[in-house]
Amino acid sequence: MSDPVRTVLPDDRPQIHLAGFMGSGKSTVGRLVARRLLWNFLDLDGVIERHEGRPVGRIFAESGGRHFRDVERHVLRQVVSKPATVIALGGGTLMNPDNQTLCRERAAVVWLRCPLEVVAKRLQDATTTRPLWGNGEEALQARFTERRAGYEAAEYHVDADASPEEVAKRIMEMLMASKREGA
Ligand code: S3P
Repeated sequence: MSDPVRTVLPDDRPQIHLAGFMGSGKSTVGRLVARRLLWNFLDLDGVIERHEGRPVGRIFAESGGRHFRDVERHVLRQVVSKPATVIALGGGTLMNPDNQTLCRERAAVVWLRCPLEVVAKRLQDATTTRPLWGNGEEALQARFTERRAGYEAAEYHVDADASPEEVAKRIMEMLMASKREGA
């Protein structure tokens, strides 16, 4: 049987990063992709929470967004050295150009592209766990638009308005196709 780890990778980068807006399915899909590859899975928000010993909502409320971004930047630098790992990035991780460069160097970065109406439906009551979600419809629309360029910088784009299993399958197929093209 062929080794899925070797057959899927577009090149010798040791990670796959999933990027996208809140609610686009990064963590759920990331776990499925990792399982298919027999790789490890990490949720960057989870790493931040363990590092800080408190949930994301409290980090924002008690220490502010800038502190959150500093910690995010710091822990990203720690986890990118891990081999064979799928990482669900936070919704804002790629907005920092240094993070973008680092992710690109270490990973095949995949944008889970999802319409705002779909993520809004998925996250109806998310204000407490996602501090940047609950600022009203207009603010959310503005954030969604402003984020687009950062996500578009990802090397791979996948339509994520589908079941997590289907999106994971699309990602695997896309990476394998790109591997074949590059071979
Ligand atoms: C954020 C998204 C969240 C989390 C934090 C900030 C953002 O991650 O990192 O609340 O700026 O979009 P998810 O995309 O996993 O919800």
